[in-house]
Amino acid sequence: MGNMKKIISVVGARPNFMKVAPIHKAFKKHEDEITHLICHTGQHYDEKMSKVFFEDLELPQPDFYLGVGSGSHAEQTAKVMVEFEKILIQEKPDMVLVVGDVNSTIACSLTAKKLHIKVVHVEAGLRSFDMEMPEEVNRILTDRISDYLFVTEKSGLDNLKNEGVSIDKVFFVGNVMIDSLFYYLPKSDKSNIHIELGVEKGSYVLITLHRPSNVDTKESLEKLVHFLNVLSEQRKVVFPIHPRTKNNLGKFELLKTLSKNIILTDPIGYVDFQALTKNAELVVTDSGGIQEETTALGVQCITLRTSTERPSTVDVGTNQLIGLDLEKAETACLDVLNGNKKEGKIPELWDGKAAERIVEILHKYV
Ligand code: UD1
Repeated sequence: MGNMKKIISVVGARPNFMKVAPIHKAFKKHEDEITHLICHTGQHYDEKMSKVFFEDLELPQPDFYLGVGSGSHAEQTAKVMVEFEKILIQEKPDMVLVVGDVNSTIACSLTAKKLHIKVVHVEAGLRSFDMEMPEEVNRILTDRISDYLFVTEKSGLDNLKNEGVSIDKVFFVGNVMIDSLFYYLPKSDKSNIHIELGVEKGSYVLITLHRPSNVDTKESLEKLVHFLNVLSEQRKVVFPIHPRTKNNLGKFELLKTLSKNIILTDPIGYVDFQALTKNAELVVTDSGGIQEETTALGVQCITLRTSTERPSTVDVGTNQLIGLDLEKAETACLDVLNGNKKEGKIPELWDGKAAERIVEILHKYV
């Protein structure tokens, strides 16, 4: 037992939990050689943004909870670093594994690297080429200091090559988020969420919007309300509201201008949300992960962003990147609702086995 290895995986924000869950499961196969621990930074802390995901995804209680909470970018990143450093000094892990592109991702990878601990980045190489997105800064910096880079789609390989990353560190393994999606689909199929919300499978539009570019100014939110109200004349609209979006709609007194036909809900747990995605006629989003989940499920997706770091969802999948012009978005949505669907295929290696591939590789190197 003397040479038992230790790996700490980091989760911070909502899109991290479903990425670490399959990795944690895959590590169990090697539990006599590798101790896999989970550190939750507390970037997201509301029950509906965090705890429900641990339950839905059968994740154990985190081994470490940093309780960092919200704040400006500098505050949040700095607080995570200060607290995570203490854990690393105490635990001396052999590797730190981070996923995705949130502030906790760069904070923890930077802290580990400065302590000469190997850094593993899962979902490496994605690029939107928009440096005004905080996530793009987080992605580029995390990749630059990572020792093992696991890539979800072909574009990631090209981007890392163009940035001069040595190919010995880069592994194209597929998409751990899709591992969770496929693993929990049977559970999602038993969800009662459609009955609870009073919508019929196959004939509603599902909305998720939380990016600063869509929800941080009064002007963009007013346009958004108009857009959603128009959609709600065509179909039932289900809109689980992210706290950031809800706060801002409240601040500009726009919540009450949303049509009564829009079903507003709190953030929804993982299993119920996948049930809503799978059975939607159309999903309208600015999320990264949902572009991938709709592509994996063959569901129509319209993305309200000017760029995507996940181009395979557009090139191969069912995603349409529309930009921020909501009149254009309205036309695109109505087109889909009139039956003009975009055909799509599932990208290479999005087969539910990415986490197993990652763990087999790490097992060799740790
Ligand atoms: C973060 C990620 C983003 C990811 C998103 C998913 C960064 C830079 N951004 O954005 O990439 O797509 O998570 O949700 O890391 N809040 C709550 N309760 C919570 C968490 C947040 O009320 O549990 C509110 C707070 O008012 C907070 C705001 O939401 O100020 C934004 O939270 P924050 O973690 O800063 O960023 P997100 O917009 O969630």
